[in-house]
Amino acid sequence: MSDINWPALQSAAQQAAAQAYAPYSQFPVGVAVLAESGNIYTGCNVENASYGGTVCAERNAIAAAVVAGERKFRALLVYTPQPALTPPCGICRQVIAEFFSPDAPVASCNHLQQQQLWTLGELLPAAFTPTYLANSSKVGA
Ligand code: THU
Repeated sequence: MSDINWPALQSAAQQAAAQAYAPYSQFPVGVAVLAESGNIYTGCNVENASYGGTVCAERNAIAAAVVAGERKFRALLVYTPQPALTPPCGICRQVIAEFFSPDAPVASCNHLQQQQLWTLGELLPAAFTPTYLANSSKVGA
């Protein structure tokens, strides 16, 4: 974990937050994910007039990485330019758990240079992961 370039992730997430489309909440979010390949991918939140159509920065960052061919990740960082350090929402935690191991670091930081660090396992213990489907007895199939 010490070999993760957190300043690079923070800089990338901060730039992504500047692109956030958040006219309804006025709550811009930027996320950077570090893939096993070493590449960094970013996402911002994209809101919608039909509020349920909003997609969080975390899911947009992961989608950008997946379309580039990534499947495994080492770290995720959330940037929000406001005092409270923002953790990923519940839906995003589930999506993160699809591709990150429980010991993967998930960080949050803000414009005040404050940071908080969790593991994914702390944020989403006993996650439902692809393993459960792989080990199912396929009843009815
Ligand atoms: N949001 C994110 O993008 N990520 C989070 O972890 C928390 C919430 C967005 C969704 C919405 O556009 C705005 O923040 C307010 O909920």
